[in-house]
Amino acid sequence: MNNNLKKVLVVDYGSQTTQLIIRRVREIGMYCEMITYNILPSYIKKNKPQAIILSGGPASSFEKKSPKIDSNIFNLGIPILGICYGMQITCQILGGKVKNTKKREFGKAEIKLLKSSLLFENVGKTKLSSQVWMSHGDEVTDLPEGFIKLATTEKNNIASIGNLKKKIYGLQFHPEVIHTIKGKLIIENFLMRICKLKKNWKMENFLESQILKIKNMVKEEKVICGLSGGVDSSVVAALLSKAIGKKLICIFVNHGFLRKDEEKEVIINFKKYMNSKLIYINAKSSFFKKLRNVTDPEKKRKVIGREFVRIFEIEAKKIKNAKFLAQGTLYPDVIESKKIDGAGSKAIKSHHNVGGLPKRLNLKLIEPLRELFKDEVRELGKELGLPRNIIQRHPFPGPGLSIRIPGKITNKKINILKEADKIYIDELLKNNLYNKIWQAFCVLLPVKSVGVMGDSRSYEYTVSIRAITSTDGMTADIYYFREEFLKKLSGRIIGEVNGVNRILFDITSKPPATIEWE
Ligand code: XMP
Repeated sequence: MNNNLKKVLVVDYGSQTTQLIIRRVREIGMYCEMITYNILPSYIKKNKPQAIILSGGPASSFEKKSPKIDSNIFNLGIPILGICYGMQITCQILGGKVKNTKKREFGKAEIKLLKSSLLFENVGKTKLSSQVWMSHGDEVTDLPEGFIKLATTEKNNIASIGNLKKKIYGLQFHPEVIHTIKGKLIIENFLMRICKLKKNWKMENFLESQILKIKNMVKEEKVICGLSGGVDSSVVAALLSKAIGKKLICIFVNHGFLRKDEEKEVIINFKKYMNSKLIYINAKSSFFKKLRNVTDPEKKRKVIGREFVRIFEIEAKKIKNAKFLAQGTLYPDVIESKKIDGAGSKAIKSHHNVGGLPKRLNLKLIEPLRELFKDEVRELGKELGLPRNIIQRHPFPGPGLSIRIPGKITNKKINILKEADKIYIDELLKNNLYNKIWQAFCVLLPVKSVGVMGDSRSYEYTVSIRAITSTDGMTADIYYFREEFLKKLSGRIIGEVNGVNRILFDITSKPPATIEWE
């Protein structure tokens, strides 16, 4: 990170919308980091943030075991904005009262501004209302000393408070969600008018600072990077290639479960857009052999992960003077792994990644995308001059098509899936749907059914198509196609792909289903 950037700190108390706070701050044009509440004092000492936003959270601030905040934080002169639980814990710690008054408010509400204040500048004239989004069971009933009410709801509940002298503010509603119409403006007012911060977060600054950082770190050593052809690894490779050129060596392991013609495209694009070395390993047959009789989804993922590491390790060891391994870890992955550490949530599936590699290879990690969200990675890719067809690519899982063939994998099934998938993606592109969808793919089911084609009976496989919208892959909604599109797609796949006679449309969101089938 560029240490000259003024830092906005978001403290996570477990809200579903904490990531959205970070998004809004970055959209406003400021650099922002998130930490969990329990490391706040040590983080402040080390990083000296200029603004602190306390997120919402599911706990009740008056309960003994609820996540707390050190009262000294409020005496450091750093402006603080507490949102929902963040406001309640501020009140609780500073001597106010928070109660469960049974006046729960969920969803849209109107607030009335009581006083003009920097926080609500240009949000509305005093006494006029503004639509906000609420989600709380507890409520602040008594304010701590030095605080005043800035806004109330129609039900006369406190909607916002502030200690103007100490620059400590609270919002009972969530300014980060889009249903709070002037929410972004409220956050911007806090950062610009109260904290006096300037907008200095731009992708080109980020690119420049990363190039400098990578150059300084790598010096004359070599960096290895696993290339998959996906957005993240392509952007990492392009960034490193720009920073260190020939000192970057990319390894592309083809496990045989890529989309149709994908390996050719990856190699062509690499030559066109990067000025580094590429080692291409065709490992199709060794992966296929290892997976021959594997039907259990977790076992498939583990076998592929292990085989990938084995092959990558052999190749990486051949490269002399390699000191670093570059990876496309994104900010949501960083947050997610922190959350898992803290909350002990259960792993749903073992995602294939190369996390075990640096330890085995004794390499230091370079993760230049660690601070970015997916759409920021796409923006960075654009800044680096990568073409739209790489930048806008849908996510593709590490184990590739193998986890889209439930049950036993055969060569015939891989080929059927490749052909069906190609037609599906072609149709999405032709109909301008590809960029409206977060991820779309076919799954080849281990189910055969009877059909009639021409005058003959058929007994063939079933393809299920999936299309979802999402922001980060953590949750997903179904993307519903028009009838004509579905009819045409189904007709094309059955007409053009040998071995398929039935198409299903998966109408399950995540949760309860995951995006991939295995
Ligand atoms: P699930 O199926 O867990 O997928 O809902 C969420 C997102 O992650 C992708 N995915 C993977 N990505 N390695 C990856 O890099 C993997 O092993 C892997 N498994 C799933 C999936 O395609 C979706 O975008």
